[in-house]
Amino acid sequence: MDKIVIHGGQRLTGEIRILGAKNAALPIQCAALLTDTPTTLRHVPRLSDVKTMGELLVGLGCTVEGDRTLVIDPAGVGSGPLEAPYELVKTMRASVTVMGPLLARYGRCRVSLPGGCAIGARPIDQHLRGLEALGARIRMAHGYVELKARRLKGASFSFDVVTVGGTQNVMMAAALAKGTSRLENCAREPEVQELAIVLNKMGAKIHGAGTSAMEIEGVDVLNGIDHAILPDRIEAGTFMVAAAITRGDVLLEHAPIDHLHPVIAKLEEAGAICRVEPRGLRVIGPEALKAIDLVTRPHPGFPTDMQAQMMVLATAAHGQSIITETIFENRFMHVPELCRLGADIHVNGNVAIIKGPAKYTGTTVMATDLRASASLVLAGLVASGKTEIRRVYHLDRGYETIEKRLRQVGAKIRRFHGAPN
Ligand code: EPZ
Repeated sequence: MDKIVIHGGQRLTGEIRILGAKNAALPIQCAALLTDTPTTLRHVPRLSDVKTMGELLVGLGCTVEGDRTLVIDPAGVGSGPLEAPYELVKTMRASVTVMGPLLARYGRCRVSLPGGCAIGARPIDQHLRGLEALGARIRMAHGYVELKARRLKGASFSFDVVTVGGTQNVMMAAALAKGTSRLENCAREPEVQELAIVLNKMGAKIHGAGTSAMEIEGVDVLNGIDHAILPDRIEAGTFMVAAAITRGDVLLEHAPIDHLHPVIAKLEEAGAICRVEPRGLRVIGPEALKAIDLVTRPHPGFPTDMQAQMMVLATAAHGQSIITETIFENRFMHVPELCRLGADIHVNGNVAIIKGPAKYTGTTVMATDLRASASLVLAGLVASGKTEIRRVYHLDRGYETIEKRLRQVGAKIRRFHGAPN
């Protein structure tokens, strides 16, 4: 297992290029199953989750070549089992987003139930309710869900819970259903909008993506396309916090500014300067950060995937901040580790009360989930002395060579391979 070692206290200055969005690349890889012609994806981030999705597609009969530019040829799908096995689904729950495409194109699939994860139970009941509304027959057995449908039929359906993956699964199924579907209470995330752009490029007829109501006119055939993945707003937000807490001055090249408004607003409220420039977003950290309150909400609210990172900013700010997590029931796993570094954070249910500024002193900490591990890197950047972060495989799921890119802007950060875990 790798570890990352940081000697804190450096001011970050320079430029970081924002790479393709993990949470767009994953569902779009699944969309390639909706056709029998190849799809080429560009600006794909080199992440372990993207590789895992590639392995899943290969297991279904696709050929998958390349990495930054990924070519997926689904011609071989359908001759073998249409199954997403437990070994893959348990490591990456986004695998369940193959259900909609496989059901729509082949009329059957068998997908392992993902089980819980560090941040919560994360059921898929809404995915299944939506697919059932389109005509799927569903059977649960041995920890797997089996879905069958001769031809999916357009239907009206309203999600009980706003779910990104659930919206994406049902969108992809409805795209090839017979007739028109009307979906209500849909997720509005940029990655949902990006999937609709890709599906419409493939020949789908989806209207209203990015709002809570979508109308999808089913078509008979979709075609493979060539598409460049949009930049990752959560990666950009993470680097924004890094600049803000180190009194830095960093240009985030290619940052998706239109998808960052809630994060920009909170950084500015804390006293950072966020300036739109021709090549991206410049973030300048103030001498002293101000305390902020935030509540995570579905887009266009403040993104839950930025909660852990903003908690580090709050620990560095002067005064008391209150952070409320409304999306996942257990997304404060970073708190005990931040407290070991010296933070003053009290959690009561889904509310965290933070008193700053913390006098962080480096020590050994352990990553527990993707965004928690990002928050430990951020805290290490401002801790005095050495911070050692173990189990960084969590980090590699969502950030491509983060240590190299932070070193480029002045951080004293290195990765060591084969550390004890
Ligand atoms: C996506 O996960 C993202 N992952 C997550 O990012 C992100 O945190 C989440 O959306 C919320 O924005 C990808 O896009 C690959 P949800 P997803 O379904 O789709 C409940 C990261 O750090 N729910 O929107 O799995 C669920 O328990 C990851 O990059 C149901 O109750 O999230 C949660 O409380 C972490 N029933 C809430 O909805 C369902 O059928 C939102 O989950 C589905 C979800």
